[in-house]
Amino acid sequence: MTRRVAILISGRGSNMVALAQSMTGDHPARPCLVVSNRPGAAGLTAARDLGIPAALVDHTEFPDRAAFEAQLTATLERARPDIICLAGFMRILSPGFVGRWQGRILNIHPSLLPKYKGLDTHARALAAGDTEAGCSVHLVTPELDGGPVLGQARVPILPGDTPEILAQRVLGQERLLYPAVLRRFAEGDQAPIFLP
Ligand code: GRF
Repeated sequence: MTRRVAILISGRGSNMVALAQSMTGDHPARPCLVVSNRPGAAGLTAARDLGIPAALVDHTEFPDRAAFEAQLTATLERARPDIICLAGFMRILSPGFVGRWQGRILNIHPSLLPKYKGLDTHARALAAGDTEAGCSVHLVTPELDGGPVLGQARVPILPGDTPEILAQRVLGQERLLYPAVLRRFAEGDQAPIFLP
C-alpha cells in the first residue's frame, strides 16, 4: 500500500522539494501535505507548484506550544500521513506531539550526529577544527536531535570554508541522503544508510 508522507518546513524547502520529487514511479510513498509554520516560507509556493496540498500553521498565532501543536495535529490528521518528514522545520516538538506519531517522524540535521545537536552546526564544526562535516537523518524522539540515526553523508571541510560555504556543500548531500533514507524507511527498512 502506498505510504502517505507529510513534510513540515519553515523556509526555503529545498529538502522538501528533493523528497517530493523522489516520490514517483515505483517509490512506495507519495507526498500528501506540506505544512509550514512561517507564512513567508518559499517552500509553500514550491509545494503548490509541485501540486502538493500546502497548509500554513503559523505558530505566532497561538498562545503557547500546546495550542500550536493541537492545530498542527488536526491539520496533519486530516491528511492521514503514515510518515512525517521534518525538513528545515525550526520548531521544537513536545514529547506529546512526538508520542502521537511515535516512530514515524524523521528529521534531517546538518551535522554528523551525535556531534553538534542544535543550531549553528557548521560554525561549530569549523571552530572545532574538524576536517569533515555532514548531515544525518534520524528518527525523532523527545530528545532534541537525539533519535536513532537512519543515515549519514559526509563532506570534507576545506581551507577557507565559511559556515555559508560549508552549509552549501552539506546541503548538496542532504538532498541525496534524505530521499534515500525516506525510500528505505517507507519500505519498512530502518538499517542506516551511509553516503558517499
Ligand atoms: C537544512 O540544512 C536542514 O538540514 C536544516 O535546515 C536547512 C533547511 O533547508 N535543518 P531547506 O529549507 O530544506 O532548503
